[in-house]
Amino acid sequence: MSGPYRAAVCTALTGPDSIQIQDRASVPLARDEVRIATRAAGVNFPDLLMTYGKYQFRPDPPFIPGMEIAGEVIETGAEVAAVKVGDRVTAGAKGSCFAEQLVVPSSAVMLLPPALSFEEGSCWRSAAVTAWHALHDKAGLQAGETALILGASGGVGMAAIKLAKHFGATVVGTGSTQSKRDAILAAGADHALDPAAEDLPGQVKSLTGGNGVNVVFDPVGGALSIKATRAIAWGGRFLIVGFASGEIPSFPANHALIKGYSLIGLRAGEASRRDPDLAKRTQAALHGLAASGAMRPHISQTFKLENTTDALRALEARNIIGRAVITMP
Ligand SMILES: NC(=O)c1ccc[n+]([C@@H]2O[C@H](COP(=O)([O-])OP(=O)(O)OC[C@H]3O[C@@H](n4cnc5c(N)ncnc54)[C@H](OP(=O)(O)O)[C@@H]3O)[C@@H](O)[C@H]2O)c1
Repeated sequence: MSGPYRAAVCTALTGPDSIQIQDRASVPLARDEVRIATRAAGVNFPDLLMTYGKYQFRPDPPFIPGMEIAGEVIETGAEVAAVKVGDRVTAGAKGSCFAEQLVVPSSAVMLLPPALSFEEGSCWRSAAVTAWHALHDKAGLQAGETALILGASGGVGMAAIKLAKHFGATVVGTGSTQSKRDAILAAGADHALDPAAEDLPGQVKSLTGGNGVNVVFDPVGGALSIKATRAIAWGGRFLIVGFASGEIPSFPANHALIKGYSLIGLRAGEASRRDPDLAKRTQAALHGLAASGAMRPHISQTFKLENTTDALRALEARNIIGRAVITMP
């Protein structure tokens, strides 16, 4: 069994300032568990929401936030065959990831694609799986179609840009600052627009020959969602991915009827948990894309574990382009 380790602990549901660095003792492994020395942890929007108790999974404090890591296997339970000590891996969990060690069932561990560094591997999986489930499984995005990616400079948005381009779509992304729009174009989008522009739907239509887009990918919510429905083509698919704006939109059903579009909600993690075959197919596809470099995440800032509060504050202030990562020695 490994020794004590440091963790970033949320001590109250008052936001990132409640995070304290505390020492934790290692516990013995169950037979199917794996202990990982964490090298990097990706910072996801739900981590921030959890510090306020505003995410759908709402643990009581004290708890360790963080949902994905990359690191090295340092111990395996007696029944674990899929990985061995020394393997470079990624893992996902409902919390507990902002810590120097993570213990998870072996089913939550995946070998790190060799093309990815620990930092890239720590922030790749959740966004890539979300983009894949949305654009591939739910929208069936086809080559030659058009996609509008809202919040396109965010972690999930950037993965969606790369995947939509991989599928052969024309991609329009929104970014609220010039540096975000530059990053969206650098990630491969064909066009980048300001989501605050009043005539956003008109701008999207003029980029798509007057038709509007076939698919809207929306991790932002609020008024922007409703604005984006005015930019959707006849028979389009509107993907409800998340509410980073903090506002849940109410869609006018008559508009969906008149324009014949579908409103499609999705939960990528839950879909994989409910359908292990889907999870396996998704992993195989995404490993291929990571190995080819088509799905490399964009990391704009790294933070040490003791600066976890700063990482979450930066996310809250909308200062992160792509992903922020917490690194550990
Ligand atoms: N359904 C699923 O399975 C699933 C899976 C993973 C994540 N999600 C959800 O997807 C959303 C995005 O996650 P993410 O990790 O990509 O987050 P992120 O990296 O922080 O990106 C979110 C983007 O939303 C935009 N935004 C608009 N208003 C905002 C506000 N008030 N605060 C923060 N950002 C705002 C920002 O772009 P601009 O500045 O350009 O507006 C930002 O780049 C979250 O709601 C998350 O819970 C859903």
